[in-house]
This record gives sequence, structure tokens and C-alpha cells, in this order.
Amino acid sequence: MPNIVLLPGDGIGPEVIAEAVKCLALLSDACDLGLRFETHAIGGAAIDACGDPLPPATLAACERADAILLGAVGGPKWDTAGTRPEAGLLGLRSGLGLYANLRPARVIAGMEHLSPLKAKIAAGADVLVVRELTGGLYFGDKTQDEDNASDLCAYSRVEVERIAHVAFQAARRRRHKVTSVDKANVLATSRLWRKTVEAVAPHYPDVALDHLYIDAAAMALVTHPSRFDVILTENMFGDILSDQLSAIGGSIGLLASASAGDEGALLFEPIHGSAPDLVGRDVANPAGAIASAAMLLDLALELPEEANMLHRALEAALVEGCRTADLDGDHGCAAFGDRVREILKARVIHHNAMVELIAMNRGCCA
Ligand code: NAD
Ligand code: IPM
Ligand code: MN
Repeated sequence: MPNIVLLPGDGIGPEVIAEAVKCLALLSDACDLGLRFETHAIGGAAIDACGDPLPPATLAACERADAILLGAVGGPKWDTAGTRPEAGLLGLRSGLGLYANLRPARVIAGMEHLSPLKAKIAAGADVLVVRELTGGLYFGDKTQDEDNASDLCAYSRVEVERIAHVAFQAARRRRHKVTSVDKANVLATSRLWRKTVEAVAPHYPDVALDHLYIDAAAMALVTHPSRFDVILTENMFGDILSDQLSAIGGSIGLLASASAGDEGALLFEPIHGSAPDLVGRDVANPAGAIASAAMLLDLALELPEEANMLHRALEAALVEGCRTADLDGDHGCAAFGDRVREILKARVIHHNAMVELIAMNRGCCA
């Protein structure tokens, strides 16, 4: 009985997570997966409830979980509060040792016209950002007084090595190319990064490696996105590049992510934030949350067939023109989710019928 911890969080987080959970529940019923859900507070909602953006009970539940699905944290309500909601998410990532963040992005065939880039440039882009998630500027020592502030950017060789292995291994399941993105012409951490990645590369002779500086990478992403397969980069650069990449496919609302460490539960979340401008209006795009649920089925529960059915139902809905406002569509968040589930249900029924047929045939021939 897989136990999934839900952390809806703030803003549109609960709206998009509700749609993703309904998809998981449908699959659980139809395919007898026995999924169990427990909801816990994180971010601003947790600050409001108990003054702590990552209550100990939430962290403990995540430690016990088979997988975690998170919506988003943050919002203007807490921007001036002493403790920020974002600290809850950062604490969860570091508390669970989730150093590897995978952010896949594709320009879906038939949706090239929704890219802000010329369709011929956007077409075919298919990139996986492998973002280091527990180091760098985010977690270095910080100082701040009235007149001065500093954030330390630190990386160790071991931290770079382990994320580099994740990227090379991911490239082996894709088009065998890693582009490491850094700022080695200026930053000491980037020079260590580049040297370490170079040292890991010979373990993967079947994977091509190149390096780009972050500024050049940002440019290449919009001039020639299909030159990229796997982008390997540090925490802050990965945060920025993945938002940029999401826009190329049409909307940040489409992108999912998985975060993993060496052991323990994996965390799945759309890459977008709490979108305070959209909250409570049933206009948020739940596709990134639904795609995160599909990644959860695949990577945490090792249910590739179910994951695939959900993923394909999601894409089929988008391609047939059922879209939310960010993609120039007229569907609300819930109506989009309903359409995905309609398609999913039909596919599951077909899938189950096929499985039964094959079992019957095997029975006959045995
Ligand atoms: P954001 O991602 O919330 O919004 C950026 C833009 O994208 C907005 O115009 C928004 O309307 C749009 N957008 C985002 N998600 C969408 C969706 N699902 N469907 C349609 N449009 C969508 O980023 P922001 O405005 O910079 O940040 C708002 C808050 O969210 C901040 O407090 C920030 O710290 C937080 N945040 C949290 C996460 C997270 O929890 N993982 C990620 C990013 C930002
Ligand atoms: C993301 C977000 C977070 C990050 C914030 C909310 C801490 O932008 O998940 O991309 O910067 O990692
Ligand atoms: Mn971000």
C-alpha cells in the first residue's frame, strides 16, 4: 500500500495538486494500486497553522513516505514575515538530502505555435535539466545588516561528482549528450565544477560532454534549443534556466520535476510557484502537477505503464486543444483535469481489457 504524502502548500498549489491527486486516485482504483494519501502543511499554510514553514510532523511524514507530491509555497502574505514559506521547501530538500533535481521539458509536437520562439526554432526541443539542489548560493552562509549582505557560494568535489553521475546516467537513457553549464571564467566554484565534471566524463565514454558558460547557455537556449539534451548545472543556474526552458514549450505551467537523493523518498513538484495572480480563480494550469504525478508513478512507485498512460492522456488533452488560459485555451483548471481523466479512463479500460485478453490467451495455450 504505497503511502503518498501530499504537500499542497500555498496559492495555486492546492488547486493543481487536487487535479493531480484525482488522476492518481483514478489509476489506483482502476489498476488496483492501493495508493494511500496523507496531507500535511508546508510553507505559508504551515506558518499560519503553527508558525513553522516545515513543521516536524511534516518532515517526519515525508521521511516515512513512499513518495511526496508538493504544490507550491510562498506568496505576498508572507513576504515580510520573519520566516519565509520558501524556507520550508528548502528545509525539506536539504532535510531529505534531495540533491538531484530532474526537470524535463519538451516542445510537444502540435504545440510549437504556442512557443514565444519561431515554431521552426522551438520544434523538437527536448531537454532534461539536471539541477544540483542542495548546495551553492542557496545553502551557503548568509549575512545581512542594514548596509551589507552576502551569500556564500560553496561546492565540494563530492557534491559535483554525484550530480554529474546523475546527469551522465540520464543522458544514457536519452540522446547521450551532456552540456555542463557554469561560469568558470569568473567563479572558483565553477572551475571546480568543470574540472570535476571532466573527471567524471571518462566513466561514460558513450556520452558526449560539452561546456557552456551560463550567459552563452541562456542565449543558446532561445536561439537553438534542440542543441541540448541533458543540461547539468548548479542550483541557482538550474533554477533560472529551467523557467526559461519552460517558456519555450509554451508555459511554466507544463513542467514537472523529481528530486532524489541517495536513499529515501523522492519529491515531485511542478516547477512553477504559487502564482498569487491566479489563485482562487480556477485558471491555473495543472499540467505540471499532473506530469509530476506521472513521474511519481514511474520513478518512486516503479509503475511505468501507469505512468505512461497518465502522461499520454495529459499530452493527448493538450494536443487536442483542451488548454488553460496560459496556453491560450478556455479550459479552467478543474475542467482541464476532468478532460485528462476522461481520456485516461478510456485508456485504462482498454489497457485492462488487453491485459485480460493476453492472460486468457496464455491460459488457453498453457
Ligand atoms: P510563479 O511561478 O508563481 O509565477 C510566475 C508566472 O507564471 C506568473 O505570471 C504566474 O501566473 C504564471 N504561472 C505560474 N504557474 C502557473 C500555472 N500553473 N498555470 C498558469 N500560469 C502559471 O513565480 P513568482 O510569481 O515568481 O513567485 C510567486 C511565489 O511562488 C513566490 O513566493 C515564490 O517564492 C514562490 N515560488 C515557489 C516555488 C515552489 O514552491 N516550488 C517555485 C517558484 C516560485
Ligand atoms: C523552484 C523555486 C524554489 C527554488 C524557491 C521557491 C525556493 O523557484 O523550485 O524552482 O528556487 O528552488
Ligand atoms: Mn524556480
